[in-house]
Amino acid sequence: MNASSARPKMIVDCDPGHDDAVALLVAAHVADIRGIVTVGGNADLDRTTHNALVMRDLIGIDAPVHRGCGHPIVAKSQYAPSIHGESGLDGADLPSPVTPLDGTDGVDFIIDTCRADEGIWLVPTGPLTNIGLALRRAPDIAHRIAGVSLMGGGSFGNRSAVAEFNIWADPHAAAIVFETFDRGSPGPLGPVPGSLIMAGLDVTHRFQLTPERIARTGALSGQLAEILTGLFEFFSGTYLSRHDAGTMSGAALHDPLAVLAVSHPELFERRHRHVVVETVGEHTAGMTVIDERKLLERSAPNCDVLVDVDADAAFDIVIEAIQASAPRV
Ligand code: BDR
Ligand code: CA
Repeated sequence: MNASSARPKMIVDCDPGHDDAVALLVAAHVADIRGIVTVGGNADLDRTTHNALVMRDLIGIDAPVHRGCGHPIVAKSQYAPSIHGESGLDGADLPSPVTPLDGTDGVDFIIDTCRADEGIWLVPTGPLTNIGLALRRAPDIAHRIAGVSLMGGGSFGNRSAVAEFNIWADPHAAAIVFETFDRGSPGPLGPVPGSLIMAGLDVTHRFQLTPERIARTGALSGQLAEILTGLFEFFSGTYLSRHDAGTMSGAALHDPLAVLAVSHPELFERRHRHVVVETVGEHTAGMTVIDERKLLERSAPNCDVLVDVDADAAFDIVIEAIQASAPRV
């Protein structure tokens, strides 16, 4: 689990969450994690922070964990117990964390870390509250980061007909992030040099926890594999019970794709598109509006929209990451 300069530098901003837990595991294996910041989302901030601490010890990494924002910028807090359980990580008996929280200043941590070192990727896998506030408070960091690779959005929804949970939960924060990369209306410091990558539902629904993939996890030895197998079974169970029969093979393992899009870009098919976030629509709040027009007058792309993934290769990396982990609890 040693950080290497060849690995992309990342801050993972998350709301664990079953798939966030896998994003942390994969990031530990393929990236140089400069920090983990928590946000309210799948569960309240106390629970997501606790879960991040548990996962850090289970994976066996030293990255600092900072508690971020508990509530969206404007919207009211809404969680996802029907997907992740009340704890945010239902389905396994989790050990208590043994390594204490490093700080309660998540937004400041993002700002300070990006000011101290160039070329860091921000990888949000929950609502974008911390990232949006950091970019609003310190616009200069947008010119220092490698980019933002986020799980969220897509051309269809899961919390509404058109809105995906992470964008829907804090659309105003998401709008700040997408506007930051808008080359057509740059901020006072000019266009940002980095990239915005959207791992939305179009691609994440192509990466499912099939029974075969859960069985592969269950066949591994060790505490982390055992815990993940329980988490996967719970997570897939909620997905299967909430979708039309035969439409899903298991839960969509959304969040690790935002990590892999940075470390393993060759696994993905992407489209360069202009994307904005709907913040006010009566029926469309939280929608990522992807401009698919062929008209020359369309806005310049601000986003790499991921549309497909080599799911077997991506899951191989999840398995490798489990095997490489060294739990300290
Ligand atoms: C997103 O919402 C959460 O349930 C998952 O952790 C993922 O980040 C999918 O819509
Ligand atoms: Ca998440």
